[in-house]
Parts: sequence; C-alpha cells; structure tokens
Amino acid sequence: MTASRLFSPITLRGLTLDNRIVLSPMCQYASQDGNPSQWHTVHLGTYALSNLGLAITEATAVEPAGRISPMCLGLYSDAHQEALAHIVRFYREFGSTKFGVQLAHAGRKASVLPSFMIRRAVTPEEGGWTPISPSDYRDDVHPPPAVMDLERIERVKTAWRDSTRRAGDIGVDLIEPNEVYDGDLHEIELGGRRVELRTWGRAHTRGDQVVFLPEERILFTGDLVEERCFAIFPYFPPEDVDVDGKKWIAVLEHLEALEPAIVVPGHGEVGGASVITEAREYITQLQEETRRLKAEGVSVDAAVEQLDGSMRALHPDWVQEEWIGFGVRHFFAVAE
Ligand SMILES: Cc1cc2nc3c(=O)[nH]c(=O)nc-3n(C[C@H](O)[C@H](O)[C@H](O)COP(=O)(O)O)c2cc1C
Repeated sequence: MTASRLFSPITLRGLTLDNRIVLSPMCQYASQDGNPSQWHTVHLGTYALSNLGLAITEATAVEPAGRISPMCLGLYSDAHQEALAHIVRFYREFGSTKFGVQLAHAGRKASVLPSFMIRRAVTPEEGGWTPISPSDYRDDVHPPPAVMDLERIERVKTAWRDSTRRAGDIGVDLIEPNEVYDGDLHEIELGGRRVELRTWGRAHTRGDQVVFLPEERILFTGDLVEERCFAIFPYFPPEDVDVDGKKWIAVLEHLEALEPAIVVPGHGEVGGASVITEAREYITQLQEETRRLKAEGVSVDAAVEQLDGSMRALHPDWVQEEWIGFGVRHFFAVAE
C-alpha cells in the first residue's frame, strides 16, 4: 500500500511539516484590545492536539489601527506577545504541529463590525477609529480613511518590523504576511512550482483573485465558483452592494478559457472545468430571466418569488437557496 501524500512530510524552505494539513488563518473575533482570550487558548490548543502539519493564527494586527474590527487579534504589545508565547509553548510541549502567525494590517478596511454581522463602520462611541490609507478612496461601508503622510507610513513599517520581531522572539515557526496583490498577473515560485495569482477586478468581491498553476493546469477559484451552490450575491443595499453579476459572468468565461484540468472551488468537491460552466450558466440564466420578468412589468418581489421556485426546481441538489433572491434583486436593480 502506498502512503497517502496528504499524510507525508513536506519541507517548505527550512520548515518541515509532518503532514500537509494546514489550518487556514481565520478571524475569530474573540479579542479585546488585541489580546488573545481563553477562546484562542482552547481553539488553537485543539489544533495542537490534532497533529495538523501547521496551524496559522487569524489575521493578527501589527498595530491597533490595523485591526479589522475591535475584536481582532494583535501582536503589538508585551501583553499580546506573552499571551501568544503561552500558546506557542503549548504547541512545543504537546504534539508536533508547527505554529504560524499571520501578520496583518487592514489599512482602509478597518474599524468595521465582524464578518458574521452585516458589515458596517464601527463608530468611535463603539470603540471604532479612523482607518489609514494610501489614498482618500472611500466606500459606503468603511469609515472614511485618513491619508497617510510619510511619517505615518514609517510608523506602519516600524509596526510590521516590531510584530515580526515579537513573533520571532517567541519562536513561532512561520510568519505569514497577509498580503494582497494587485495587477492582472503576479507570478511566484512556490515549493518548485510556478504559480500565477490573477486578479479580475470587482465581480463577486472587489479585485477577485484566483490562483492558477499553468503547468499542472490546476485552478483555485476562491469564492468565484462554488460547487452545487447557488451563487452568493452579497447584495445588501444600501450598505453592501459589492457585487457585479455581469462582470462575474465575464470573469467565469475567462476562467473557462484557461482550460483548467482540475478546478478547486471555494466550497464543494474538486472537479473539472464543468464546475465553472455550471456556475456561469446558473448566473447567466438568473440574469436573463430577471431581465425578462422586469421587461414584462413584473415587480421585483414577484420576480424573486417566481425565480426562487424555478431555480430550486432546476437544481434540487444545490444548497444556499437563500441567495437566489439576492441575485434576482441585484439583476433587477441593474437591468436597463
Ligand atoms: C471565518 C473565516 C475567517 C477568515 N479569516 C481569514 C484571515 O484572518 N486571514 C486570511 O488570510 N484569510 C481568512 N479567511 C480565509 C481562509 O483562510 C481561507 O483561505 C478560505 O476560507 C478558503 O479556504 P476554504 O475553502 O478551505 O474555506 C477566513 C475564512 C473564514 C471562513
């Protein structure tokens, strides 16, 4: 019997993991003033005991203004450092799971409510603050940012340096910057493989990103494609309308044109290019049917009711039916 590759060691630069199972960074929204809480001790401790290859903390802010919400974790004080050191010691003592910290700065997209609530700015009375940004670009969800001057930029750089040093001092195995890339195509070499990071601009979320391995023709679609799921239209007017169904269809056409052999969707089973086609056909049909009903003078509520029924009937084994109506409302609002 051959051993499963999933359970075989892998070396990434100097770091050897016992197996290839990794806990993704996931915001827990369980901190006060950036401090790890009892929740973190138990949550991260559980993963130490389950012998993953690597566990990575949630986005961990390098300065208070870099937290996404007031409940986000930080690594910018001695108290934060000591509390995290306590968890690292637990990892050393029990099991062989490696421990990584994701360092992050939310920049302009800071001072909002946690993502399990409807996104909106947190006011100063609620513990919110003014986010910092390289430009004065603003949206309807986040508080208007303060544009950084050179002195402020230096402070951010110092904050990154300090948090990196703190993480190093407590002996974490991996420090991962939460990095956002921009531009149409960014190429990196990852463990000997060529990897393309592509952005498509706003479709599902601003600057939709996918990862493509051109030699192996493997495509990671993120939330742009989900298998047997009604497409998630995060469409909550007036606050959150950060979705463009028409552009989304165009992006899916681009993804099909890459002719991937293997598609890893945001959720669901790994499959072939048909996973993308199914998602595109659904969104296209939702668009066309909504346009048709609007042109016939049908009200938006009646269109939602009608299409909610017909789409469920067409895809009886799909999940997340609650998003059909949001999709109809979006296409209704943008239809000429
Ligand atoms: C609740 C939640 C919180 C997340 N927080 C972060 C985060 O702090 N930093 C980050 O880079 N990604 C974050 N992500 C993205 C995940 O790390 C992961 O990349 C994404 O969920 C896709 O992997 P999956 O298909 O296994 O869920 C978060 C995802 C979820 C569901």
